[in-house]
Amino acid sequence: MKYGSGSAAVDHYVNSEYDSVYGMSSQFAAIIAAHVMNRQTKLGISGHIAEIGTFEGRFFIAMALAMQPGERAVGIDTFEWPSPKVRDKLHSHIERLGVRPHDVTILTANSADLAARDITDAVGGQAGGQVRFFHVDGDHTPKALTHDLDLAYAVMHPKGVICLDDMLHPGFPLLTVAVYEWLKAHPDMRVFCVIDREDIVAAPKFMLCRHDAHELYEKDLLDSFPEWHFEAASQWEQWVAIVLTPHPRFAIVE
Ligand SMILES: C[S@@+](CC[C@H](N)C(=O)[O-])C[C@H]1O[C@@H](n2cnc3c(N)ncnc32)[C@H](O)[C@@H]1O
Repeated sequence: MKYGSGSAAVDHYVNSEYDSVYGMSSQFAAIIAAHVMNRQTKLGISGHIAEIGTFEGRFFIAMALAMQPGERAVGIDTFEWPSPKVRDKLHSHIERLGVRPHDVTILTANSADLAARDITDAVGGQAGGQVRFFHVDGDHTPKALTHDLDLAYAVMHPKGVICLDDMLHPGFPLLTVAVYEWLKAHPDMRVFCVIDREDIVAAPKFMLCRHDAHELYEKDLLDSFPEWHFEAASQWEQWVAIVLTPHPRFAIVE
């Protein structure tokens, strides 16, 4: 399946080069994320992008290719797994795939040691120093996710989006509990979209924003991708979130 985000550079990368960058995020999720970034651009929401858990840059490059002039991409990773050479691979992919190295700051760090100031310093105070799209894909423990959510929340644009990876992953069941607890402590925030990986039974990403911003994104996503809408939706007690999946259906167990 060929995917389209509305950004020619992202679509070329995702449909033709994505597999050349080893990583874990799906093409489908990268396209939806880039679409949301394009939506932000159309709405005049400017700011930077950031990712915890950049690894070789598979998802990071898609986000960076959707940036506008003056915006920066901050990639954070310990770059220890499987070896420190992963950082060299990231830089070579960035140069090979059309991201301007000048627009990128790579921090070799454990996110647990970072504070909001480290992110705003990394973007050099440009465009207000706020992050409009923050992908969290680092340490998959509840404690670390809670810290990373706090970090993303502290630097996010008021109409920005925080995107969380590996929600509902069978290997990390407590991450969803951490998100639930974090949302209770941050009643201004909600999950507005669940992006499935490649199938309804796989581990999706959640996209979060403030309650007063979700209407900026939801209808646009449903209008743009009606064929990927799982109509039963995602239940969050006080609200529902939309679900986008390449194969909308209930799982069939044979
Ligand atoms: C699953 S990989 C990320 C995949 C990548 N985002 C992609 O789309 O292909 C997880 C990454 O998180 C990094 N990581 C784990 N714990 C971290 C921490 N505390 N701080 C920063 N990075 C961390 C790992 O080094 C690893 O590169």
